Amino acid sequence: MHGKSKKIIMDWKHLPFGYHKTHYNLRCLYKNGTWGPLEATESEEITLHMAATTLHYGQEIFEGLKAFMGQDNKIRLFRWQENARRMQHSARGILMPEIPEELFFEAVSRAVLLNREFVPPYGTGAALYIRPLMIGIGAEVGVKPSEEYLFLVFVTPVGPYFKGGFKSVNMMICREFDRAAPLGTGTFKTGGNYAGGMRAVTKAHEMGYANAIFLDAKEKKYIDECGPANFFAIKGNTYVTPKSTSILGSITNMSLIQIAQDLGMQAERRPIAIEELSTFDETGACGTAAVISPIHKIFDPETEKTYVFGNGEPGPVSEKLYKTLTGIQLGDEPDVHGWTTVLE
Ligand SMILES: Cc1ncc(COP(=O)(O)O)c(C=O)c1O
Repeated sequence: MHGKSKKIIMDWKHLPFGYHKTHYNLRCLYKNGTWGPLEATESEEITLHMAATTLHYGQEIFEGLKAFMGQDNKIRLFRWQENARRMQHSARGILMPEIPEELFFEAVSRAVLLNREFVPPYGTGAALYIRPLMIGIGAEVGVKPSEEYLFLVFVTPVGPYFKGGFKSVNMMICREFDRAAPLGTGTFKTGGNYAGGMRAVTKAHEMGYANAIFLDAKEKKYIDECGPANFFAIKGNTYVTPKSTSILGSITNMSLIQIAQDLGMQAERRPIAIEELSTFDETGACGTAAVISPIHKIFDPETEKTYVFGNGEPGPVSEKLYKTLTGIQLGDEPDVHGWTTVLE
């Protein structure tokens, strides 16, 4: 099937980070122990059995990655293999079938190419966000894994995370709520973790902060995650990021660690105690949506202490890491690690 040729009119410069209808999405059913054919559809709706396991017992996993238009008019996917692997890890975590890497790539690449008019032009700061998801669709009433699943990939153009350019944000440590337990589902990208974090994130927003920083649920001593992003800090010539059994393995973080090392820095993955915040030169949240959200201030409501980093402008190391990573994604910087895949 070929993409529609109908011309679309988009205000690329003012796109929000939200859902925008595109031409097609891709779907594949798992039944009788195997994956069926991958099909493109124009429908934005799914018909579900009311007893589907996704509705009652949260059998749902998803991914998020982006496709970028380069100056050379080539569309690049960033490290899709890592998203495929992480989705397999999530599937194993809540007893869903794994999606083979080839099926994941076929669905993602077809979803992008069938909607190529929606890939924002180079220079707008916008990108095509890709959302693969899998849900348990079999009817069950007892708590057990479904025997049938739907794998779906839709895309939506999204605007730059920072409308006015790369900017610092303030965050609040959350002590009232946990996102995930040490031996729970935190390393899986499953909807329940986001539902579990909503009170914290909403409270942080209400108090005027960009997001909530979760602590380790057991001791409440160490930094876990920053809303839907990993935490990192710069201390001298070292990039530090939390080691924890309850955080999602961020592909952006993994890439920043490599870039920091390429720039001659040390990189450490280890527990980060809250008090260590006062020793950091720069801190930030990292993830697909923003790449890096540099953090200016972190407020701890328990001690009423505010940790301040820099003067409110992104720090030089964060800026360098941000420029290098976004440069690779767009095809402006050499892709020495083979992280991008050109879609044709
Ligand atoms: C909870 C959580 N942590 C971290 C991340 C960042 O991961 P990535 O860099 O792969 O987007 C995300 C976003 O996907 C997330 O939802």
